Amino acid sequence: MDGTSASGKSTNAKLIAKTLDYVYVDTGAMYRTLAWYCLKQNVDVNNPKAVATACRKWKTLLICNDGDIKAVRLLVDNHYPEKEIRTKETAAAVPHVAAVPKVRDWMKKKQRECIQFGNLVMEGRDIGTNVFPETDFKFYLDAHLEERTKRRQADGVQEDLAARDQRDSQRAAAPLMIALGARIINNSGETPQQTSERIIGMVREIMTSARR
Ligand code: DC
Repeated sequence: MDGTSASGKSTNAKLIAKTLDYVYVDTGAMYRTLAWYCLKQNVDVNNPKAVATACRKWKTLLICNDGDIKAVRLLVDNHYPEKEIRTKETAAAVPHVAAVPKVRDWMKKKQRECIQFGNLVMEGRDIGTNVFPETDFKFYLDAHLEERTKRRQADGVQEDLAARDQRDSQRAAAPLMIALGARIINNSGETPQQTSERIIGMVREIMTSARR
């Protein structure tokens, strides 16, 4: 599941994972974790070589957390920085880290390794185009900018989403794009319940037509 910022990817991916009993993977959290780690280690996030070196050397572990929703977590030195990756500082650093090609290679490998935990609902910006281009289940979420801005504000976050989308779409390495074969879900004016039911309906339809 790919899409613009605040387009409802996380909310819907979690609802779908819960309904289908699949494992939820938030790939943005993985990029945020590296951004947080670089800040903590005083690695200059504007220096792609330094960021790539940090990414090659950090000690990580992928686990599947068995909570209300099964979810993959990337641990660093056995710690899951749940709160730390949501700070303003981390949010500002993450686009720099996510633009480094060696980082994207590392993340793609780790994200593909998540399949060890079972069927996945994976959300990000390049899942259908780059991480799992072979999947038949590709969804691209979007909503009107005003509505997305309101959703972020409701979460207590003030952010220039248009600027963020532009950065995510225009970077050279694995930019945000609509994957070939992706179903486009514009969920403006919908509740997460409605959107997730719509997507689950499409998943079942694709499964049925694959069996024919
Ligand atoms: O979804 P999010 O806001 O937590 O993502 C954080 C940043 O990571 C955002 O700038 C986009 C980037 N990202 C990415 O480049 N590729 C992904 N698969 C997921 C997130």
